[in-house]
Amino acid sequence: MNILLIGSGGREHALAWKIKQSKLTNKLYIAPGNAGTSLVGENLPVKSDDFHGLAKICNAKNIDLIVVGPEVPLVNGIRDFFEQDQVLKKILFVGPGEKGAELEGSKDYSKQFMLRHGVPTANAKTFSAARLEEGLHYLTTCQLPIVLKADGLAAGKGVIISNNLEEAQTSLRDMLVNRLFGEASAQVLVEEFLEGIELSVFVLTDGTDYVLLPEAKDYKRVGDKDTGPNTGGMGAVSPVIFADRLFMKKVEEKIIQPTITGLNKEKIPYRGFIFFGIMNVSGEPHLIEYNARMGDPETEAVMTRIQSDFVELLIACAKGELKHKKIVIDSDYAVTVMMVSGGYPGDYEKGKIIAGLELPSPALVFHAGTTLVNNKIVTDGGRVLAVTGRGQSLQEAKKNAYQSVSGISWTGVYFRKDIGVDLLPGGKHE
Ligand code: AMP
Ligand code: GLY
Repeated sequence: MNILLIGSGGREHALAWKIKQSKLTNKLYIAPGNAGTSLVGENLPVKSDDFHGLAKICNAKNIDLIVVGPEVPLVNGIRDFFEQDQVLKKILFVGPGEKGAELEGSKDYSKQFMLRHGVPTANAKTFSAARLEEGLHYLTTCQLPIVLKADGLAAGKGVIISNNLEEAQTSLRDMLVNRLFGEASAQVLVEEFLEGIELSVFVLTDGTDYVLLPEAKDYKRVGDKDTGPNTGGMGAVSPVIFADRLFMKKVEEKIIQPTITGLNKEKIPYRGFIFFGIMNVSGEPHLIEYNARMGDPETEAVMTRIQSDFVELLIACAKGELKHKKIVIDSDYAVTVMMVSGGYPGDYEKGKIIAGLELPSPALVFHAGTTLVNNKIVTDGGRVLAVTGRGQSLQEAKKNAYQSVSGISWTGVYFRKDIGVDLLPGGKHE
């Protein structure tokens, strides 16, 4: 198979790394990729929003299978674009069409979908600028803390949680009237706050059947002990100790299966990943959100635990043949530490030379925001490297990850020191 993977982050490096290991992979191309993906395949300088450019690659390189990493091209209808062309539609495709991706593209749509299909979730009401006064009044009837969510895509930044009514009212006004998150906050959901611990659950589905991938816990806040602003994710751990057999059975029965049945009932074809952002509220799973893709940095932990030939699963997904497919998952632990540019998630500088990548490493080093300048690997984003340690215990995986992290540096490098600590014996979430 000649495979085209679309995207350029740590998630795509981890997917490329896994795809490369398959005996079914002939050539692997990544568009546009990063300095890390160029180590496992061939980068092609076409951005993920350039559908015509990507179509040209498919024709020129005889692509047999397309895998889409990020959400934006999915929400913008990349699958539908390929399906409208008589030649391109024959290429196997992993990633939902525009209708399926709407589960991530609109939080109002996904909330209504959850409610229609009995998926446990937080209560919410949606307001537009035209109904601002009604929204401000509604806030006075809500319990604190109040969750405000931009309806559209906001790169993980569209949620404000407020412990104070006046502050929530100001935020609602800012979101709706001043378009704090641009068009994404043209509508805002006022949502009930769920108290619990989060986890990320992933399936690969052909719209009827699915395989359950390893679950992971993401560390969203920038600072140790979950302090400071939210980020795209500062680290991940897999497996998650509290996601035991009983809890995962509830997740499958109450969340995953009703979702897939719901897609069928509504005649929404879906071949791709679904990422369920779940809150464990006293042992009961509640769905916070859907994403139409894998998580980042969760993928950098999750891929390392999959033993099965991943390309075989991707092909089965694209062909609608997942029914009898089984996935084999390693019982080992994976701990991913994200190394970021100083200042992230606020302003940061790019172009810093990364030292230490050539050293022997007990961990896997996935590139997130890197590029090659004069044959040197330099920083090219906020999240720069995702370092994944493996081990038979969480402690060992964590030790391996941090040992590698300590050998890599650049001016201004920052990372959390406590990834996985809360899940260790005696930790907060044991
Ligand atoms: P999202 O953009 O939907 O992933 O939300 C970002 C983060 O906000 C989530 O990962 C949660 O930590 C938090 N969050 C979202 N919705 C809720 C909720 N209803 N209750 C508590 N926390 C929430
Ligand atoms: N790590 C969370 C996400 O990918 O949205």
